[in-house]
Amino acid sequence: MKLKKNILCIGAGYVGGPSMAMIAYKCPDYRVTVVDINGDRIDAWNSDNLPVYEPGLEKIVKKTRGNNLFFRKDIENQIKENDIIFVSVNTPTKTYGAGADMAADLQYVEKTARQILKYSRSSKIVIEKSTLPVKTALAIEKILSSSKGRIKFDVLSNPEFMAEGTAVKDLENPDRVLIGSRETKSALNARNQLIEIYARWIPLKKIITSNIWSSELSKLVANAFLAQRVSSINSISALCEKTDADITEVAKAVGMDSRIGDKFLKAGIGFGGSCFKKDILNLAYLCEYYGLNEVASYWKSVIKINQYQQDRFIANILHRMFGTLAGKKICIWGFAFKADTSDTRESPAIYVAKKLIAEQAEIIISDPQAMKNAVSDLADSKGTIRYVEDPYEAASGCHAILILTDWDLYRKMDFRKIYRSMVKPAFIFDGRNIIEREKCFDIGFNVYSIGKSALSHI
Ligand code: UDX
Ligand code: ADP
Repeated sequence: MKLKKNILCIGAGYVGGPSMAMIAYKCPDYRVTVVDINGDRIDAWNSDNLPVYEPGLEKIVKKTRGNNLFFRKDIENQIKENDIIFVSVNTPTKTYGAGADMAADLQYVEKTARQILKYSRSSKIVIEKSTLPVKTALAIEKILSSSKGRIKFDVLSNPEFMAEGTAVKDLENPDRVLIGSRETKSALNARNQLIEIYARWIPLKKIITSNIWSSELSKLVANAFLAQRVSSINSISALCEKTDADITEVAKAVGMDSRIGDKFLKAGIGFGGSCFKKDILNLAYLCEYYGLNEVASYWKSVIKINQYQQDRFIANILHRMFGTLAGKKICIWGFAFKADTSDTRESPAIYVAKKLIAEQAEIIISDPQAMKNAVSDLADSKGTIRYVEDPYEAASGCHAILILTDWDLYRKMDFRKIYRSMVKPAFIFDGRNIIEREKCFDIGFNVYSIGKSALSHI
């Protein structure tokens, strides 16, 4: 069979890996190659132990890898040989210089653009897949057109909207695919080539096009709106705790208004993940850059509420456990920023764990997929930390359990058995509102949920 298109992706991370695996899976006649400067990551993608945990991902990688999906280290060659190049490198929040703690750090994107320029021997379509501040495509275009050769580059924006934990499902059946481009003949031709790829499995009405700046900005704004809903419901959870209203009931009643909808109304310890905080800060930075200070402070307040929610959670633990955690054993169930992922980037669990260590508690961490990441997140912490994969064993001998990730497994635990193994009075702080709280209360636990009245025997 003749392979119809050669596609390259630079960056084999949480976005690049799964999204390219899906293209390879859906387009068996395309040759899809993924490269990364991190050789260990490439080795992991080529092994039985993929660097990213996502339900369903292993199956599609196993089916395609070595047939039409390749993970390679020879970046230079691959740039030469491929004419369609996705850029999916990291864009973390800048930690230094102008815009520190807010703006996106574009050094990896810029380096990638320079690499593409350096090694290209023929015209290319360069597609931004990483989440980038509006107008980044202009910088990429300027770099790519800086040498006066005959090689032509068309830059497109194609942000990835999939969420972690549901990546395969989202990639297979996205709400929409967005492609931003210039209006020139060659840019429109490039856009059509990209549409052709997605049209293999996505209905055309879900593939939308826009100008390139709208596309870049839409990704930041979509994340900001989602995060804003989580902060809105979390702010109301604090009010529920003061008034004996129940956040789950409030969210249900509010969410049934079809104009509002029921998604992203789950109160908890606050949002984490690689996108929300970074993208809102980035959006606020852009607003400040354009002199829109009120708009910037509005979006920053979404992050403030997120921080407030985590501080509130910790303050409540301290208050309920008689004002001291020193020497107490606290079990943390769940370290990933959400269920079904091994990713712990910006996970509220990191902040909570560090605060508990500062209170001189002994912490025992358990997570079905994120243990390796937890160990590296807390590598610099100088407290007593144990890592125990089995949640029963982790809780045994503890004073309290904190549920920090909504893994399904924690709903189904044998709480009677766990209660017997713990120090009394035993506490559960359910930071995700997932357990059957009355049942646990009847067993003997003191149960504290988010946005619900306390169930306390003491
Ligand atoms: C998000 C966007 O959803 C996705 O479209 C974008 O491409 C990347 O950023 P992701 O960070 O993977 O995806 O996860 P998401 O499901 O959005 O959850 C983000 C955080 O919000 C998690 O910590 C989650 O636990 C929290 N959350 C989400 C809530 O606390 N309550 C909710 O109701 C929903
Ligand atoms: P995301 O969640 O957006 O996928 P990740 O941090 O998981 O972000 O992945 C980005 C990947 O991009 C990392 O594996 C990193 O090593 C890779 N990367 C960064 N810069 C370059 C570069 N110049 N060339 C190749 N890969 C790069």
